[in-house]
Amino acid sequence: MPIWAYFLIGAALAGLIGLALHWQLVVAEGAYLGPHVVAWLYDRFAPHYDRVKQFDKAGDALMLAAPILKHLAVSAVSHAVVLDVATGTGRLPDALLAQRRFRGHIVALDLSRRMLDRAQAKLAAYGDRVVFMRRDAQRLPFDADAFDVVTCLEALEFMRDQHAAVREMWRVLKPGGLLMVSNRIGPDAWKLPGRTLPTAAFAARLRALGFQDVQSRPWLVDYDLVTGIKP
Ligand SMILES: C[S@@+](CC[C@H](N)C(=O)[O-])C[C@H]1O[C@@H](n2cnc3c(N)ncnc32)[C@H](O)[C@@H]1O
Repeated sequence: MPIWAYFLIGAALAGLIGLALHWQLVVAEGAYLGPHVVAWLYDRFAPHYDRVKQFDKAGDALMLAAPILKHLAVSAVSHAVVLDVATGTGRLPDALLAQRRFRGHIVALDLSRRMLDRAQAKLAAYGDRVVFMRRDAQRLPFDADAFDVVTCLEALEFMRDQHAAVREMWRVLKPGGLLMVSNRIGPDAWKLPGRTLPTAAFAARLRALGFQDVQSRPWLVDYDLVTGIKP
């Protein structure tokens, strides 16, 4: 074989490896490499996360905090305990604690130390109304029936066993409790094979677990926001 053919094959292989690495580390954010790789990548990204995301606070109040407050009012829970799984830099606690009508406490859990550090700094004014825990979402360190509300936003697609993670959320929810999770859809969902489900299939999975009153509504560009009640 001529020498240039070796160079050509080498260049093609290097290109393929580069593409595979880009997919695994940038597009899939480490999702197929295990939770500790995901957390390691988020540790790196933590200083830039809020700037890149540019959260819409009014939108979060309307889409995230309002349905939770409505559920708590309807179920007459005055001092709710909320678990935010994969809290990141604390977007959900930030949206909920800013509401004067919310008088409860929040446990904010994530596997990335630096994302949690950011959340802690951002939410310091709320004192012990928010507690931070560095744990894996797939093994929640809580007793069954512990929380009035469990949320998990923009994170299920990064978990090795999404179904097991949702089962854990079911376990720690009190009967009558509200689950609020995001399900990745949209034009880029195909880039995460095995990690996303179409809207109807995701809702069916929640119903199969036992959730009632399952509702999906479009949220942001890439997600459904899905709620359900544990009977
Ligand atoms: C895109 S961020 C979403 C953060 C936040 N929920 C939000 O809406 O801004 C994904 C977060 O999920 C966390 N995460 C991913 N897999 C996890 C796991 N198995 N256990 C705990 N946290 C996890 C990451 O560390 C990261 O902070």
